[in-house]
Amino acid sequence: MLVPKKKQFTFIDLFAGIGGFHIAFSNLGAKCVYVSEYEKYCRITYENYFKPKHPELFKDPKIFGEDIKKVTISEDIIKEHIPEFDILTGGFPCQPFSQAGQKKGFLDKVRGTLFYDIARILEARQPKAYFIENVRGLKAHDGGNTIKEMERIIKKLGYSFNVYSVRASDYGLPTHRPRLYMIGFRKDIKDRVKFEEPTKTGLKFTLSDVFGKKINKEIGYTLRLGGMDSGLKDRRNWDHYLMEDGTDHKITVEEATKMMGFPDDFIFPDEVSKRQRMKQLGNSVAIYAIQAYAAKLMEALDNI
Ligand SMILES: C[S@@+](CC[C@H](N)C(=O)[O-])C[C@H]1O[C@@H](n2cnc3c(N)ncnc32)[C@H](O)[C@@H]1O
Repeated sequence: MLVPKKKQFTFIDLFAGIGGFHIAFSNLGAKCVYVSEYEKYCRITYENYFKPKHPELFKDPKIFGEDIKKVTISEDIIKEHIPEFDILTGGFPCQPFSQAGQKKGFLDKVRGTLFYDIARILEARQPKAYFIENVRGLKAHDGGNTIKEMERIIKKLGYSFNVYSVRASDYGLPTHRPRLYMIGFRKDIKDRVKFEEPTKTGLKFTLSDVFGKKINKEIGYTLRLGGMDSGLKDRRNWDHYLMEDGTDHKITVEEATKMMGFPDDFIFPDEVSKRQRMKQLGNSVAIYAIQAYAAKLMEALDNI
């Protein structure tokens, strides 16, 4: 999957969670220059893993940023906090777009939603590309209006807007985790860039490998927080598995970490409870799938 790089690309990790995008892009040789995440326990997990590897990211509190809304207030504040970079990344929480507000500036319409913050950063910093992620349901949200509005805003900023429907299990990991990836390129390069979706790889390891014992199922459930412990027979069940030997196995944090493609040295700090850990993993991206698309994105940028 590794692509030989001519250039070292820089990226920012927005709505960073525990750093799934960061791991995928770092694995390909890109360098993170700014992080934004405001939830206390995500920040603790993030810092615990990345500080020993990239201490420079944690020296300046502006660079390991908290609430993105405090940064996107104006172009000057964005530029004061966020250095220049090549690729914007982020798995943003999906919020409805307000239909109200007939304000003049076209970005005013979406003020209040987190997509607005992404748009403001693209506008102020003009990176070469963006790669953002959301749930598949975004496509049908508000009868398709939400994604149409996003496309309109992104295109108005001069970027291309491509949407890919991706399943984590097609790119190596034993979890379905269907998601939408949105990728686009800046106006001066978008017509020259040749971005191709990565070839599906199939599973790199199975659920039996994750559990270290046999199960008659290759791909696991998508991790969630709701419905936890509802039991094998419940339709909301996602954390219990019937093993080949007839036992009921509840997925552990370590197994969930592996299922999402996190590396073996990814350890949660003691201050983060088991429930928090599972929530963080449930909110995270599937690393192998992100990495497959990130490799193609950087290859496309390298080749223009
Ligand atoms: C869907 S999760 C993204 C997880 C991430 N992609 C990962 O791999 O772990 C969205 C994250 O955005 C964070 N968030 C929401 N609003 C934010 C804001 N205003 N500023 C910074 N972070 C925010 C949440 O705390 C959450 O961790």
